[in-house]
Amino acid sequence: MIRKCLFPVAGYGTRFLPATKSMPKEMLPVVNKPLVQYGVEEALEAGLTEIGFVTGRGKRAIADHFDVSYELEHQIAGSAKEKYLTSVRDVMAKGSFSFTRQSEMRGLGDAILTGRRLMGDEAFGVVLSDDLCVCEEEGVLAQMANLYKQFRCSIIAVQEVPEEVIHKFGVIDGEQIKDNIYQINHMVEKPDAKDAPSNLAIIGRYILTPDIFEIIESTPPGKNDELQLTDALLTQAKSGCVLAYKFKGRRFDCGSVAGFVEATNYVYENIYTHE
Ligand code: G1P
Repeated sequence: MIRKCLFPVAGYGTRFLPATKSMPKEMLPVVNKPLVQYGVEEALEAGLTEIGFVTGRGKRAIADHFDVSYELEHQIAGSAKEKYLTSVRDVMAKGSFSFTRQSEMRGLGDAILTGRRLMGDEAFGVVLSDDLCVCEEEGVLAQMANLYKQFRCSIIAVQEVPEEVIHKFGVIDGEQIKDNIYQINHMVEKPDAKDAPSNLAIIGRYILTPDIFEIIESTPPGKNDELQLTDALLTQAKSGCVLAYKFKGRRFDCGSVAGFVEATNYVYENIYTHE
């Protein structure tokens, strides 16, 4: 059973300036709920209740969001407005929340390594909350946690993407071993379209076995001179097994303004409970 989930949330959110000048990008609301809460709800649904955040400067609002606000609770207790707190109260009741800080941003691999103490020596999930995933039945992490029970190795969520956007992603190559499941034999971080080994792009959901930490430690900086999780996972794939899973569901790129607006419209039309 996987119990823990890591959220790297130290990034600046430059593309959303000035909104993100003093507010973490993860707290931007998609309709009425901060982006990061969607990811946390997905983790909780998958049974991953020990949530760890790798934060940075200017991210205190995230910790406050998952803590009690006494003034607010006091003010609206017993009033008709209490219903607005239901979802976040539910999240707080189900999960436990821990925080650690990344002092310098040296890439996703480094962010994951910073979360080592929080995750310990067991397999754990990773959510990049910029990727908002909506699924008809089980969430992406729940789908992946089920696969983990069967395969007991690191698993990466992937999705087919068009050639013109492939350079924005980590891209995998692998041998299909079952419907929607590939054993990875190659992967590259953000290749030029002409060098991409396939059209299967990595989406921000992972299950990682804990040996990944030592592998990251011995991984040199890669694309953009950053420590890339993709490079460490390739090493893990070569020495053992890493699977890619083409998940059932839809992903919105909330790291871009266009994707964020698309997600907002989708959630407003399909998920948000209108009064
Ligand atoms: C990260 C990963 C990349 C992956 C992407 C998914 O990149 O490094 O492999 O495809 O997330 O969102 P980022 O978008 O954080 O630069």
